[in-house]
Amino acid sequence: MKDRTRVSDRVAQISKSAIHEMTRLSKEVDDVAFLSWAKPTSDTPQHIKDGAIAAIKKGLVGGYSENAGLLKLREEIVRKLKRDNNINANPAQILVTVGAIEGLSAAVMALIDPGDEVILPSPTYSTHIRQVVIASGKPVLVPSIEEEGFIWDIDGVKKAITGKTRAIMYCSPSNPTGTVFDEKQLRQLAEIALENNLTVITDEAYEYFVFDGHKHFSIASIPEMRKNVVSCYTFTKTYAMTGWRIGYLHADEELIPQITKAHIPFAICAPVVSQYAALAALEGPQDCVVDFRDHYFSARNVMCERLDRLDSIFEYHKPGGSYLMFPKILLNEGRDSAAFCKKLLREARVSTTPGIAFGPTGQSHLRLSFCVSDKEIHKAFDRMESYFK
Ligand SMILES: Cc1ncc(COP(=O)(O)O)c(C=O)c1O
Repeated sequence: MKDRTRVSDRVAQISKSAIHEMTRLSKEVDDVAFLSWAKPTSDTPQHIKDGAIAAIKKGLVGGYSENAGLLKLREEIVRKLKRDNNINANPAQILVTVGAIEGLSAAVMALIDPGDEVILPSPTYSTHIRQVVIASGKPVLVPSIEEEGFIWDIDGVKKAITGKTRAIMYCSPSNPTGTVFDEKQLRQLAEIALENNLTVITDEAYEYFVFDGHKHFSIASIPEMRKNVVSCYTFTKTYAMTGWRIGYLHADEELIPQITKAHIPFAICAPVVSQYAALAALEGPQDCVVDFRDHYFSARNVMCERLDRLDSIFEYHKPGGSYLMFPKILLNEGRDSAAFCKKLLREARVSTTPGIAFGPTGQSHLRLSFCVSDKEIHKAFDRMESYFK
């Protein structure tokens, strides 16, 4: 019999991540201009590192914390949720997680039975789709309205609901489109969730990076939604803490022990050293967040100006948030976004992410990250301008 590695059907059906594939291919290209990663390129601010170093020196980080996370950290998170998200919480409604990702995975595991349907917009963050698949749920992708800047198609959501629908999952501001779902749409979504007893799982990773007067709205701030939302947050983007792997979620007090049952086999608790760093982030000055936002705002404008000069190749919506955008490729060869991005990498030495990685309606698009220096943006666009000439 043939010797082959056996894996579960759950895992076998997950395709390779296009983002990681592009990263791998980019390494083979000399002096590549890199617009593929949705990861802050700044280092973690010093006062946050100092908080972690002090905790290490005091011998506080060698053991586990409570599964839900350090009480002091959860108390600070409660203050932050009140101040910035208009959510009235208490520490029993908070679970500190290994980044937003583990919080989202634990929430999906706690809520979704095999065969349950989860509605997501398309395009959306590919990891969300995988999280549903790993839980043996069925992702149901509702195409966003691209002409209006990739907003929710509320009628499309209503039509997608069946007896098996259990949850709606989204990120706002969005990866990959940069769309900020506004309060009006999210209130409509909340009504649908309440009428059909669905749980809304949110990923608010980019909550602080909104521009042009857009406002980040947390659906959990609607009091009637108290029992119908799990909101996931992270320190990764806000404080440039990607590698610390620290985030948290907020949910109803009755749901937290259930999500914790899923959190323990994945993580036991979030890394304790990172919990102290997160505490320093919340207790310390917040100027770094404003600085990051200002930088992304200016980088977005630079990228849009450069895209304007390539208007026969790309058409785009100015992103209202995040540090990502999702231009449409106007050339015929863009219809296969993976082939297009690979060719652009090989022939123009510019690394981007194919739109197909973010759902079927992502085809004919590519994702560009502007969480890079202006120099990197100019390098990439100088190359694309000569390439498409
Ligand atoms: C929408 C979204 N959520 C979550 C993450 C990752 O969050 P964390 O590092 O907190 O797990 C990313 C990273 O790119 C993201 O784009």
